[in-house]
Amino acid sequence: MGREFFCPVTIVFVFSLIVFIVNGTKTSCPCATEQQCEVIKDDKRKEIFIFSLENSKDKWSRYDWSKVTTVVMVGYINLELMCFAHKHGARAVLIANFPKANLTNATDRSKWVKKNLQTVQKNYLDGINFDFEDFIEENRTDQRDGYTSLVNETFQTFKQANKNYQVTVDVAWSPVGVDSRFYDYLKLSYVSDFLFIMSYDEQSQIYGECVAGANSGFYKTLSGFYKYYEMGADLNKLVLGVPWYGYIYQCVSITKDNKCAIKHVPFRGVNCSDAAGHEINYSYIMASLLPKSSTGRIWDRETLSPRFNFVNNTITYQIWYDDPESLALKYNISTYHGLRGVGMWNADAVDFAIDPQGAKGMWDALPVYPRNSS
Ligand SMILES: *[C@@H]1O[C@H](CO)[C@@H](O)[C@H](O)[C@H]1NC(C)=O
Ligand SMILES: *[C@@H]1O[C@H](CO)[C@@H](O)[C@H](O)[C@H]1NC(C)=O
Ligand SMILES: *[C@@H]1O[C@H](CO)[C@@H](O)[C@H](O)[C@H]1NC(C)=O
Ligand SMILES: *[C@@H]1O[C@H](CO)[C@@H](O)[C@H](O)[C@H]1NC(C)=O
Ligand SMILES: *[C@@H]1O[C@H](CO)[C@@H](O)[C@H](O)[C@H]1NC(C)=O
Ligand SMILES: *[C@@H]1O[C@H](CO)[C@@H](O)[C@H](O)[C@H]1NC(C)=O
Ligand SMILES: *[C@@H]1O[C@H](CO)[C@@H](O)[C@H](O)[C@H]1NC(C)=O
Ligand SMILES: *[C@@H]1O[C@H](CO)[C@@H](O)[C@H](O)[C@H]1NC(C)=O
Repeated sequence: MGREFFCPVTIVFVFSLIVFIVNGTKTSCPCATEQQCEVIKDDKRKEIFIFSLENSKDKWSRYDWSKVTTVVMVGYINLELMCFAHKHGARAVLIANFPKANLTNATDRSKWVKKNLQTVQKNYLDGINFDFEDFIEENRTDQRDGYTSLVNETFQTFKQANKNYQVTVDVAWSPVGVDSRFYDYLKLSYVSDFLFIMSYDEQSQIYGECVAGANSGFYKTLSGFYKYYEMGADLNKLVLGVPWYGYIYQCVSITKDNKCAIKHVPFRGVNCSDAAGHEINYSYIMASLLPKSSTGRIWDRETLSPRFNFVNNTITYQIWYDDPESLALKYNISTYHGLRGVGMWNADAVDFAIDPQGAKGMWDALPVYPRNSS
């Protein structure tokens, strides 16, 4: 009885040894505890899915870790952040892209998947986020299906390596060929854990009057989400992504009712686009521009978004952005309709050093979800 009692322990010990040898190329766990190197297991909970652009502890240590469930490291991998995220029960994942010209090459796809799995394993990460945004013409079904295959192969390979790995895909605000991105959105939802709907850059192709408009209009955002739903996507596979940044447009002319005509800058076959303006972060808007605005914050009833004008050297600029009031309405789309969660591009657009109150307001506006699904 005594020996048998110890037997399982011995087996576990020998097994750990084998695992150690098989993964011998892995560097040893850099976190304070071995547990912090483990992949996050909860796969049912609601998501607060965030993108981190600055490899700066000063920035990421001030995220609201009582809310964050997944952090995507954009342009960097930091093991200290991985440990930090895991300590707070959040996933840390890789961002990835793939050259469009290679989508139809199965050999290239397989090689890429293996390479990225290794990167994830080597760095104790929890998965991968696809941020492929190239146009795929409607008649290029070969490229469209190549992309689906790439995501599918990633999904199959990753889940086989560890069923808790997360594979997600960033998608346009609407699935109907926005920016000529004719992807197979429904199948992408089948072969991933969920889609992150980028409910922003909604002025990337302006079909009507060439004037400045909302980056993430409430009704456009709602209709975009609804099209994913109508298409057949499972609500649990949709995360609503919102902007923590806005656009500043130089007005070519401005009407009395504040319509700001902008320069015609074409984008993917449409003559007028938000490329006439440029992106600016929330803290800059709040700390540097709004206090000097000529109009003060104006609530636009057609898009449920704030905007204001700013005059510099006789040139009028119009700023369209989002703040806790406009964001709360969009977060409510997710909460009310039972989507998988929300997220934002990007977490570093608010800065506690520049605008502490504003930064706190933005984090506070995010929904509060139960931390564990159980
Ligand atoms: C696919 O890519 C591999 C290596 O990149 C190359 O050798 C091969 O010729 C390509 N196949 C096709 C069909 O283009
Ligand atoms: C894409 O194809 C080109 C040309 O065959 C090749 O040189 C390159 O390595 C491929 N890239 C990937 C990521 O497969
Ligand atoms: C796709 O359509 C474009 C014109 O819209 C045409 O030039 C091209 O040859 C077509 N490609 C395929 C693969 O049918
Ligand atoms: C994904 O890959 C699996 C395994 O190869 C296959 O059975 C399945 O049909 C694929 N799904 C899609 C949507 O392509
Ligand atoms: C787009 O711009 C081109 C070139 O300036 C012009 O010929 C065309 O009429 C414009 N199209 C629309 C829909 O305004
Ligand atoms: C926000 O924008 C301002 C002005 O462009 C820039 O100086 C600052 O570095 C930006 N902050 C972040 C966190 O991107
Ligand atoms: C106003 O314009 C001046 C000169 O064109 C420029 O240096 C300055 O940065 C501008 N101010 C803002 C807040 O954009
Ligand atoms: C959330 O959306 C629903 C449906 O549109 C609406 O009835 C409800 O009042 C909204 N709640 C908030 C807090 O905005």
